Amino acid sequence: MVDAFSLYAKLPPLARRPVAINDLVQKVAALYFGVKEGVSLRVEAEELGEVLLDPEQFRQALANILDNAFEASPPGSEVVVRVQRDGDTAVVEVADSGPGLSVDDPELLFQPFFSSKGRGSGVGLAVVQRILTDHGGTVRLEPNHPTGVRAVLRVPLSAPPPGVPSTPAGSVDRSPPAR
Ligand SMILES: Nc1ncnc2c1ncn2[C@@H]1O[C@H](COP(=O)(O)OP(=O)(O)OP(=O)(O)O)[C@@H](O)[C@H]1O
Ligand SMILES: [Mg+2]
Repeated sequence: MVDAFSLYAKLPPLARRPVAINDLVQKVAALYFGVKEGVSLRVEAEELGEVLLDPEQFRQALANILDNAFEASPPGSEVVVRVQRDGDTAVVEVADSGPGLSVDDPELLFQPFFSSKGRGSGVGLAVVQRILTDHGGTVRLEPNHPTGVRAVLRVPLSAPPPGVPSTPAGSVDRSPPAR
């Protein structure tokens, strides 16, 4: 079994490059079709062009969110993945119709080792938060209607965030112009 804590502690620095986020999300989501009997998956992805991402780490973050969504989903329900633009931000949403959040403060769920699952290590969301923060983005869990959880991942579409160099210190900024 993978040592979840070392996975969390040893997340390497981001290796970012322009990535078609829409394709990346479709590819990760494709791995989840049919993983749980009776749970269907719908993907609605807007063409957003390329975003500066570490594709491996972003894939990992999305997989952790999808794992949670499928684990929470009862038979006969649907997981919905959406990719859309909100101004200069790419928004990836994963909504399920499971039981919803069991705590008043969703921040608690992001703590390493918080898990309501017997076999869960509770590190999934901590890793997601770390990866999204490294990308200058955010992750939040909110109630889905009428039931379930909506996980919302947001990453800037163009410029890297301050303090996270995408070019070596002292070099000129060669980041692509904002579209
Ligand atoms: N979609 C969801 N619906 C309901 N509860 C959720 C959902 N996603 C996360 N949670 C709650 O947040 C807790 C923490 O999630 P996290 O992914 O960090 O750990 P885990 O899923 O328990 O274990 P691991 O991901 O390490 O296998 C879960 O145990 C669960 O209680
Ligand atoms: Mg999890």
